[in-house]
Amino acid sequence: MTVIFESDCNRLKVFSALTGHEGNRVAEEVEAGLTASPRTLPSKYFYDARGSKLFEEICDLPEYYQTRTELALLEEFGSDIMAGFATGDLIELGSGANRKIRALLDALTAAQRSLIRYVPVDISETALIEAAEHLLELYPNLSIMGLVTDFHHPLERLDPSRRKLFLFLGSTIGNLDDDQATEFLSSVAALMDGDDRFLLGLDTLKEPAVLERAYNDAAGVTAAFNKNILSVLNTGLGANFDEGAFDHLAFFNPELSQIEMHLVARREMEIAIEGIGLSFVMDEGESIRTEICRKFDRTRAEAMVRRAGLHVTEWYTDSADAFALALLEKEGATI
Ligand code: TRP
Repeated sequence: MTVIFESDCNRLKVFSALTGHEGNRVAEEVEAGLTASPRTLPSKYFYDARGSKLFEEICDLPEYYQTRTELALLEEFGSDIMAGFATGDLIELGSGANRKIRALLDALTAAQRSLIRYVPVDISETALIEAAEHLLELYPNLSIMGLVTDFHHPLERLDPSRRKLFLFLGSTIGNLDDDQATEFLSSVAALMDGDDRFLLGLDTLKEPAVLERAYNDAAGVTAAFNKNILSVLNTGLGANFDEGAFDHLAFFNPELSQIEMHLVARREMEIAIEGIGLSFVMDEGESIRTEICRKFDRTRAEAMVRRAGLHVTEWYTDSADAFALALLEKEGATI
């Protein structure tokens, strides 16, 4: 994990620039996924600069109710969530843009805010720096420390003596399978003391038509986002994917309570990925699964966090029960 910047008197001091993803691990992950059955790709490769922009567009789509519903919950319950959290680190895992954190910062007075340090953690350096610069314009007294990493890495740079509120919003936990989610939640739980908290944003189980609409927008932004993973591999690994020869497919899988996103080959084609020395043939109609978006009710969420030694202390939801914020603490915490 690399500290990329720290705020210093209302300016960002940028320390180091990362140059793309780390070589070997990328090759291994991509090869393992593409040769598995069914074929998959790690969804973190959506997020180059263009992918991050497209993702921001998804969040504003009329069909994509998740972002605005979660934002409204943060606005409504922000002071409740922040009560008793007047000092310490606000650590946002997978931070992206900054509008959600603003809802929580706005729940504090300026004096309280000056005691908080905001620690955004994201895989996209450009998105992270842009968001932090904007945030400093809005809140000149805020301390910020930005970390560029994928959130699977332990956050060894955190100060154990500071109180912590972890944020993992946007139902990103739903993009991990059961084992990955347990591993990730456990790694965060390991950094928590009894008085630390963890706020988890969760998309709820609901009518499949509503879920499917959210991932099949009329303007085709989600399709473009999905296909962008191919251009990331073309650029980064010298692959020869023809974006135009794939269709975007997103559907609800009721057995697993998840939306699945695929790229379906329109014709037979030979894929070659020069950078990792891999080539294979895809049949017409064969697909690569690029994302899962698991959906939760409270029972399912409680079972998931319990496996990581956490439990739900508050469950905030909107009147339509479209999205939920679960406030977690460590099992056995006394406060
Ligand atoms: N975690 C959010 C979700 O599951 C956002 C997201 C992740 C997303 N990957 C995506 C949205 C792919 C659309 C397409 O909805």
